[in-house]
Amino acid sequence: MNLKNGKPLVPSNIETLKPYVAGKTIAEVAELYKPKKIAKLASNENRLGCSPKVKAAIDEAFQEIQDYPDPVARKLRAAIAERNNVKPDNVLLASGSESVISILCKTFFLNKENAITADATFVGFFVQIGVRGVHLKRIPMTSGYRYDVKAIANAIDENTKMVYIANPNNPTGTYITKDEFEWFMQKVPEDVLVVMDEAYHEYAKDVEDFPHALNYDYDNIIVLRTFSKAYGLAGFRVGYAIAHEELIKNMMKTKLTFEPTALGQAAALAAYHDHEFLKKSIAVVEQSKERLYNFFDKHNVEYVKSISNSVMMILPTEGEAIDFTQKMLEKGVILRRINAFGLPNCIRITVGLPEEMDHFEQSFLEVYSRQ
Ligand SMILES: Cc1ncc(COP(=O)(O)O)c(C=O)c1O
Repeated sequence: MNLKNGKPLVPSNIETLKPYVAGKTIAEVAELYKPKKIAKLASNENRLGCSPKVKAAIDEAFQEIQDYPDPVARKLRAAIAERNNVKPDNVLLASGSESVISILCKTFFLNKENAITADATFVGFFVQIGVRGVHLKRIPMTSGYRYDVKAIANAIDENTKMVYIANPNNPTGTYITKDEFEWFMQKVPEDVLVVMDEAYHEYAKDVEDFPHALNYDYDNIIVLRTFSKAYGLAGFRVGYAIAHEELIKNMMKTKLTFEPTALGQAAALAAYHDHEFLKKSIAVVEQSKERLYNFFDKHNVEYVKSISNSVMMILPTEGEAIDFTQKMLEKGVILRRINAFGLPNCIRITVGLPEEMDHFEQSFLEVYSRQ
């Protein structure tokens, strides 16, 4: 769209930006295909729902809904700080970790500076970096669909400001190990921010060689977490960053003043204290993952083992991935093609409740055998 004088109204980085395309909603699929039942296994949500304590907390917060939210989410920030042995000044809350990523992009880049990440990782990072017009180096993954930390370290140049690592990674479910992380941190200059996106931390935390980025004393590490996954609050939009207070102080300047919402803050606080629900959520994911691995082994389907709440299925071609996803959708099983994440022949399956896994398996047998 150009003006008469030839000037573009929309900057080229936005004009050419590929936006984030979310998975289909249950309502859309119900309307389009009218399947008897629907299993939404596309967006890495918690199929168990959320803590039953959330309802009472939002009812209470609703009493003050006419008031603006606490801009720094004091109560929630204090709870997060206490549990993670940091100060409240080290914590920033925002509307989901996607918003935290947007804040990072707004806060830290000067002209000409670049960011580095893997080729096949959380597409939300690609989008927010693109919005900011920052040059992004996407480094191919290793043959096992893992972050290639050596290649990333080699790609750092004098203009690199940020390295983004989703650990565990979405969509692959793979992770960088303690040894890899420690090696990497030795290599990274201190003026390069290392963003460790731990959206799936709750599922990964007990894996023996998983590096808990918060346990490392580097001022340039920024850890991201979210209430959207294991806590089951994706609809509320609450995520956070933990980092050095100087970094957080400056990120506070670029965040939208009143995010996250008052209801989101109340819901997250209630969910954060419900350890039983969290345990149950993690157990459901573990059981359904094992079940899916066995199912895939039995049917000779290639997949990648995961320490998050999804499993990546690998098909020989992009055409087969498109076909399989569409046929499953018509049966009411919503899966996620991950072409936008850089893997056109792969499909991400969020593991769900036993009845949803039944639905997946039955539909798979009808659809896959016919290919
Ligand atoms: C690695 C990663 N980071 C961030 C997000 C965004 O989560 P939120 O709902 O907190 O914005 C996701 C969601 O899929 C994710 O997989």
